[in-house]
Amino acid sequence: MAESAQQARRRGGIYLDFQATTPLEPRALAAMMPYLTEKFGNPHSATHRFGWEGKAGVDVARKHIAALLNAAPEEITFLSGATEANNLALKGVLEAAPETRRRLLIAETEHACVRETAAYLATRGYEVTLLPVDGDGLLRLDALEAALDERVALVSVMLVNNEIGVIQPLAEVARLAHAAGALVHSDIAQAAGKIEVDVQALGLDLASISSHKLYGPKGIGAIYVRKGVRLAPQIHGGGQEAGLRSGTLAPFLCVGFGEAAKIARERLTDDQAHVAALWRQAVKALEQSGIEWRLNGSATQRYFGNLNVSFPGIDGARLLADLRGFAVSSGAACASSVGKTSYVLEALGVESRVAQATLRIGFGRTTTADDVTEMTAAILKAVKAQREASWRQ
Ligand SMILES: Cc1ncc(COP(=O)(O)O)c(C=O)c1O
Repeated sequence: MAESAQQARRRGGIYLDFQATTPLEPRALAAMMPYLTEKFGNPHSATHRFGWEGKAGVDVARKHIAALLNAAPEEITFLSGATEANNLALKGVLEAAPETRRRLLIAETEHACVRETAAYLATRGYEVTLLPVDGDGLLRLDALEAALDERVALVSVMLVNNEIGVIQPLAEVARLAHAAGALVHSDIAQAAGKIEVDVQALGLDLASISSHKLYGPKGIGAIYVRKGVRLAPQIHGGGQEAGLRSGTLAPFLCVGFGEAAKIARERLTDDQAHVAALWRQAVKALEQSGIEWRLNGSATQRYFGNLNVSFPGIDGARLLADLRGFAVSSGAACASSVGKTSYVLEALGVESRVAQATLRIGFGRTTTADDVTEMTAAILKAVKAQREASWRQ
């Protein structure tokens, strides 16, 4: 990586927020550089070498991203990120669907960009249903089955949850949805490059992917659209990307994204083993500490680069303040000052007084065992200090 864990630490703490974003792979950066200087051509200029050079870079990148997902390159469309991909998937499918299919089903634990797009569609006359999850954060397949009928156009369920890391039973979701004649979309932003994602084996019709979650540059993502699936473009213009997403592509971003996807595919097994070892180390330290804590989300059906834990009886804001040297997140969980807790934790049935003291800890390629030792020691110290203080009051 461009920066060692030690260097990052000197600059401002230990980075443990890999669900928010990841640092750029140096090899991806190196691949990008020529496209910012001499290879500056417009990839859509078909009449000269400058354009062909840009297009060649984009074509290679598209192949790498397709390979990561077991898709065909023509099924990959570049756009600005997973937010745009999710907007395009939901709006695009519903707008292109027959008049008789105006229903959209999403899991209640979807990312805000899926939930908000669904809420927007509801204002446009589409019928949106939020599907519940169980206490482990896994989609209730019985609820999906009950909600499906011949009016459903699309079912959208994410693969790995950004807050709690659980892996949804997508192949089962697809089987049920297809039996009802609906299409299936998945937000795979937190899964691609982290766990194996095979769009064909999962039976996906559409999938959204983000470059900066897999050690690529920010500002670019892609949508997988299975051959034969029709959706209405949301950005009109010069007809780039086979008319699905107009606008001049940025070859340097495509190339960086593609290189990062290629590296992620090569490293998938090693990366997974690395984060799983760190996860086990952190959980063991918490278990042996004697403090009260709770794991949010399934302990087994999960991506182990995510550890979401709550501390009952602890003030979440004070806990975060005590952990200033660590870049962790409250998992969008805690706005304790305004009494707002995470809708994801709420969906799991976590009480708000517990949810407000929640940490989302993300492990990644640059995380070391020492980082985990320091972090767990700091958590235990902060929790014990709070308990001690409240006992003496
Ligand atoms: C599950 C999920 N979907 C979508 C997004 C949005 O991705 P992007 O930053 O590429 O728009 C994120 C990132 O926060 C995410 O975690």
